[in-house]
Amino acid sequence: MLRAMTRADAAQRITELREQIHHHDYLYYVEARPEVSDAEYDALMRELRDLEASFPDLVTADSPTQRVAGAPTDVFKSVEHHDAMLSLDNATSPDDLGEFEARTGRALPGTTFGYVCEPKIDGLGVALLYERGRFVRGATRGDGRVGEDITPNLRTIRSIPMVLRGALAAAAVVEVRGEVFMPREEFAKLNRTLEEAGTPTFANPRNAAAGAVRQKDPAVTARRPLDIFLYHVSRAAALGFSSHWDALEALRAAGFKTNPRAERCQNLDAVIAACERLERDRDTLGYDADGMVVKIESLEHQRRLGSTTHHPRWAIAFKFAARQATTMIEAIEVNVGKTGTLTPTAKLTPVELAGVTIRNVSLHNEDEIRRKDIRVGDTVLVERAGDVIPYVVQVVLAKRPPDSQPFTFPSACPACGGVAFRPAGEAYWRCTNTACPAQLKERLRHFGSRRAMDIEHLGDSTIEQLVDTGQVKDFADLYQLTAEKVSALDRFAEKSAENLIQAITASRERGLARLLNALGIRLVGERVAQLLAARFGSLERLAEVSEAELAEAHGIGDEIARSVVAFFKDPTNRRLIDNLKRAGVVTHSPMAPVGPKPLAGKTVVMTGSLPTLSREAARELVEGHGGRVASSVSKKTDYVVVGEAPGSKADDARRLGVTILDEAGLLALVRP
Ligand code: IVH
Repeated sequence: MLRAMTRADAAQRITELREQIHHHDYLYYVEARPEVSDAEYDALMRELRDLEASFPDLVTADSPTQRVAGAPTDVFKSVEHHDAMLSLDNATSPDDLGEFEARTGRALPGTTFGYVCEPKIDGLGVALLYERGRFVRGATRGDGRVGEDITPNLRTIRSIPMVLRGALAAAAVVEVRGEVFMPREEFAKLNRTLEEAGTPTFANPRNAAAGAVRQKDPAVTARRPLDIFLYHVSRAAALGFSSHWDALEALRAAGFKTNPRAERCQNLDAVIAACERLERDRDTLGYDADGMVVKIESLEHQRRLGSTTHHPRWAIAFKFAARQATTMIEAIEVNVGKTGTLTPTAKLTPVELAGVTIRNVSLHNEDEIRRKDIRVGDTVLVERAGDVIPYVVQVVLAKRPPDSQPFTFPSACPACGGVAFRPAGEAYWRCTNTACPAQLKERLRHFGSRRAMDIEHLGDSTIEQLVDTGQVKDFADLYQLTAEKVSALDRFAEKSAENLIQAITASRERGLARLLNALGIRLVGERVAQLLAARFGSLERLAEVSEAELAEAHGIGDEIARSVVAFFKDPTNRRLIDNLKRAGVVTHSPMAPVGPKPLAGKTVVMTGSLPTLSREAARELVEGHGGRVASSVSKKTDYVVVGEAPGSKADDARRLGVTILDEAGLLALVRP
């Protein structure tokens, strides 16, 4: 039972609770280093809610209980910005930055400028108004002069403090500006959820953030994982600041999130180096940044340089190379993969994207084409981000030709004319003709590839001829080839024929893991092949195991187990294996390396990029020492290895109290 409290006691306790909750919000959402468990936090919230329910007149808009409050609105009120929210002038090369320096130098002759560089977040500019340290209004940029009042929506962003601390808290009125964005990992999660629910997904994090911020119902915004970096204090000079860097520090001290990659640069060379560094790292930041904003540091210099109606003369945005472009789909081709899957590829009008000319882009499968309604003749937005292969983001519907037709997927194999069909519940059409030469060629290409049997000199045109002349009907036939037969092929001489035969001979010794990968069993790629090889040791043993036994192995799901068993049951495959063995192909694993397994039974999650180990190397290291790598953090996780620009997994680890390591910590574990 809650002891009956006087109003005065309640008011005091409410104040205490709010302060504590604000403090914990700050530690969790801004600093990502919580000091209390979720349960302790929830208890504080519950106590505050109960007290406010008993004394409703003590509820204030800045109470943490009011983060998600307010009824849905039909229209947003307009807000006139006291100082226009300007755009930025753009620089696309170091030369452009040089001109910026020359320009500002001419405007203020004899001045030495210092700079502050900050990532240019690809989100939504907002202005937050605080009165005597309390959040009173938040607005979108709008057209720069007039924006929309989205206060209830912004309140749901937990890294926006409701109550300020430090010097800014004392100001009667202060306006600060920043960029609302959706972290990439959260964006991917959101899209997965939307997709599962059958709702349209967002093309990119920016669109997702824009949609969330302009929701009519703040409860919907609250469910969207938004975050914010602050980068500007309006009228900072009047508040006593003399440099932009000091203003950023004051923002930080007030409890705002500022960008950790912001840096001070003494001269233009340092600015250019900082821009290049950020561009190099852009894929590891965890959010989309499309450039670096370069600002002259001194507020006095800023004042004297002034602004045009469009942009301040004291700042410029260095834009990274574009990774999105529009181009046209000239044709959609369907090709046959090694397991008979028909995959559609769009032939594009060639377009330059981040330094590479893109001519083709995979459309994956029928559903993907339907979902995005991609048609021949469409203008499409294509993106190539970092190591991600290019893909179609969306169709530019405004440019669709009036006579365009939806794409119909072929029901016959485009290579052999065999019947194609799409099994119920699967995304792919398949050619059902097991003798389909196109499939065989794909399978041979994969069999000889570097990460499979690694057969040098087994190129595409050789495979074409070997299949077309009927000399190779399956993998085992490769081992029956002789230099004589090969030298009869086009473009082969005695020497090159011998080289190929030698390469084929050498491939016998690759061992089970590579052989399993090479066989092209459905769902068995390089990693699964390694797991199977490590666990079962020989092809003979694997051919005998049951689905249940297979599915017990870590990383082998039911579907993989079914596929493996089906493969070994098939008489054609059994014959193939016999023939491979007869040809002297090694069908067992090399002896497992013996050594200590310090990570036996441990589950490790990795996030961010590690200083020296690649993702794959780190995984091998963990697995080689008996551990298991998982993709998300739970209470069962033993270690979370955190690199640079970690995602929300690091937060999850802190919240769940899981041990956090850096790369050095991981190495220390396995090399005692
Ligand atoms: S400074 C008057 N700093 O980019 C100063 N803007 O193209 C102008 N932006 O409207 C803003 N990150 O929404 C600044 N670190 C950053 C920024 C940034 C993103 C956005 C902002 C602005 C737009 C201009």
